[in-house]
Amino acid sequence: MSYFVVTGLFSYLVGGFFVFKKRETFTQIVEFLKGYLTMFFAGLYLHSGLTYLFSSMGVLAGHTRPFFKGFRGDTTEALALGIIFYLSWKMGLILFFFFLVLKQFGEDYDDAVFITSLLIPIICFRFFRTDSFNIICIIIFVQLAIQFWPDYLEKRIKSAFINKTVLGLAVFFIIALFFFNKYVYKGFGMQKDLIRHGPGQFKYVAITFDDGPDPLYTPEILDILLEKRVPATFFLIGKNVESYPDIARRIVKEGHSVGNHTYSHKSLIPLSAKGQEDEIKKCEKAIEEVTGVRPLLFRPPRGVYTSFARKLLKDERYTIVLWDVSAMDWAELPPDKIVERVVSNVKPGSIILFHDSGDLVTFKGGNRTSTVQALPRVIDELKKQGYEFVTIDQMIFLSELMETEERLDENKNGGFEGR
Ligand code: NI
Repeated sequence: MSYFVVTGLFSYLVGGFFVFKKRETFTQIVEFLKGYLTMFFAGLYLHSGLTYLFSSMGVLAGHTRPFFKGFRGDTTEALALGIIFYLSWKMGLILFFFFLVLKQFGEDYDDAVFITSLLIPIICFRFFRTDSFNIICIIIFVQLAIQFWPDYLEKRIKSAFINKTVLGLAVFFIIALFFFNKYVYKGFGMQKDLIRHGPGQFKYVAITFDDGPDPLYTPEILDILLEKRVPATFFLIGKNVESYPDIARRIVKEGHSVGNHTYSHKSLIPLSAKGQEDEIKKCEKAIEEVTGVRPLLFRPPRGVYTSFARKLLKDERYTIVLWDVSAMDWAELPPDKIVERVVSNVKPGSIILFHDSGDLVTFKGGNRTSTVQALPRVIDELKKQGYEFVTIDQMIFLSELMETEERLDENKNGGFEGR
């Protein structure tokens, strides 16, 4: 977490320097370099999509200073071009030439920037497969489109206000994301048909992977688990199972458990009852058809479930499986940080959440290099501390066994006291 906050603050400070009042070639080059180099240094510090997102937002915010008096974003377009150039020089060049052509045909500077900015959201998806880069492009597009909206005499006063709103919303979104992760992901309280961890009497843990199968990372993870002789549980996305059936079959063949993680990783809350049922049932069908195993474990996307889904799942004999230790690998933390987080938070009976696939928003892609690098180290460290590894099925079996034993004990005691 601190990585991203540090990057954002640093970028904000950089963004606040060298803000020029006049638009000249020299000032534009400086602004361009400011955008480019901020991204470059953020990447040196931590090469992750989320770092670039924080960095670009920071430098844009520092440059326009939306939270202080006086809007000063006169060279935002050059700064934004610097950021885009860092993400993809090809996309940067296309935008730049498009702008030059427009100007050649007699468009006024502001109008040319405005029209060029309309191109950003249309082409960014062609260049980037990662969610974070596309989000950066959308933020830049919104910023430029508002600032260079035609009939700009009036707008100049308004833009400061709109800027505040846009960046305020973006900051709110990021804070909400982390609040969400901290509280919702960790969950509120304990429920019976829903587990966050197993009983803590034995020194065992369950490793789980969400969002796969992934053509690149899942096989690497399976190799590690095979070599270390560690069983795990994979919560699969139906669509990914259909795309990579061989990998799904390999997971089952090598003795791991599989669970249902919905068909297309939609959040359950906004869906209708029918929609939720479809997401659950279609995934179940995909897993069963491909692997021959009918899943009995379910993990809702982002850990958020509804009372309808809960009742449906209960009727269908599912157990909802959440977690008590998140590796935070979805944020593409460096391997050291993942190992440290997991090892320091694990307790006997913990369910550990990793991801073998999935990007910030979409369920495919994403960079899981850190997960692959951290996994063997996590396993070795936990083995050294005396932990055993189980699948979630085994964990549930163990906990039911424990409960039966407790009940027998109670009956015995009750019986004695009664007599
Ligand atoms: Ni997921």
